Amino acid sequence: MKLLILGARGQLGRDCQTALGASHELTCLDLPEIDITSIDAVRRWMRRMTPDAVVNCAAYTRVDEAERQPDLCHRVNADGPANLAACCTEHHARLIHISTDYVFDGRLPPGRAYTEDDRPNPLGVYGRTKLAGERPVLECPLGAVLRTAWLYGAAGPNFPLTMLRLARREPRQPIRVVNDQWGTPTWSGRLARQIGRLLEDFQPGLYHATSQGACTWHAFATRVLACMEIPAEIIPIPTSAYPTPAPRPANSVLENRNLARAGLEVMIPWEADLEAFAALYRDEWLRRVQSA
Ligand SMILES: NC(=O)c1ccc[n+]([C@@H]2O[C@H](COP(=O)([O-])OP(=O)(O)OC[C@H]3O[C@@H](n4cnc5c(N)ncnc54)[C@H](OP(=O)(O)O)[C@@H]3O)[C@@H](O)[C@H]2O)c1
Repeated sequence: MKLLILGARGQLGRDCQTALGASHELTCLDLPEIDITSIDAVRRWMRRMTPDAVVNCAAYTRVDEAERQPDLCHRVNADGPANLAACCTEHHARLIHISTDYVFDGRLPPGRAYTEDDRPNPLGVYGRTKLAGERPVLECPLGAVLRTAWLYGAAGPNFPLTMLRLARREPRQPIRVVNDQWGTPTWSGRLARQIGRLLEDFQPGLYHATSQGACTWHAFATRVLACMEIPAEIIPIPTSAYPTPAPRPANSVLENRNLARAGLEVMIPWEADLEAFAALYRDEWLRRVQSA
């Protein structure tokens, strides 16, 4: 299949190149070659490449900065996918677009998970613009939206890499991490394989696509540093002790109900993926952190 991967130099985009390159013919684009906010630019690339499918990993992902840049964030996260949906419809191409757990307000009681049937109610600009971007993709005859969460991959930046940096700084200090927000860490390499599985047996629609299980940021940090074999004192704190410009959902755990029903799920428990990730990238990350 001829694939156009957008946002190809981002965290997920790089893993898509690796995961999809063996079985598909790839064209990989990011800023500045393509700006998805320009329908003319998108149309030009679609005419030139005539892809069978577009995988959109491009997004404005700086959740806190989004509060100060709502217009730019909306152009990238809402107008961008609308442009892609229009052009994919013109070309009868499939469109796989990535969205987020931050479309939910997180008021679900702890221990429960959001399904695709639950009503979104984003708390901040990032979540609102990502939700707005889902609509045109879902209206497109060959459109699929995968909502993921707490992504990490080799490229970074991401939460595990930040934890590693904090644990290696001199002089050593305790790391304070929020312990009352629940979600599911998800390896972008696994999500890229999930995208590959959906491309093999494409069914349009809305899918939750995170690893299995759930934890708090504090538990995630503890497991990251244990897998990386880096000793650290990690102190649990409440969200109220770590205010951020954009509010975060307290519980944004997702259930991959539609992937499971369609027989397409390749996701596994988050702890197993983190271990596999650490085995692959621990040495490279330690070198990166030391040379920084
Ligand atoms: N990271 C997470 O924890 C997380 C959680 C849930 C969902 N998601 C979603 O997962 C997807 C992938 O996230 P990620 O972590 O891989 O993001 P990322 O690393 O920030 O990659 C996004 C890429 O899109 C590019 N981009 C930004 N504006 C663009 C535009 N107008 N036209 C074309 N490309 C543009 C970025 O370039 P610049 O770097 O130059 O801006 C970057 O290379 C996104 O849809 C995100 O919303 C992420």
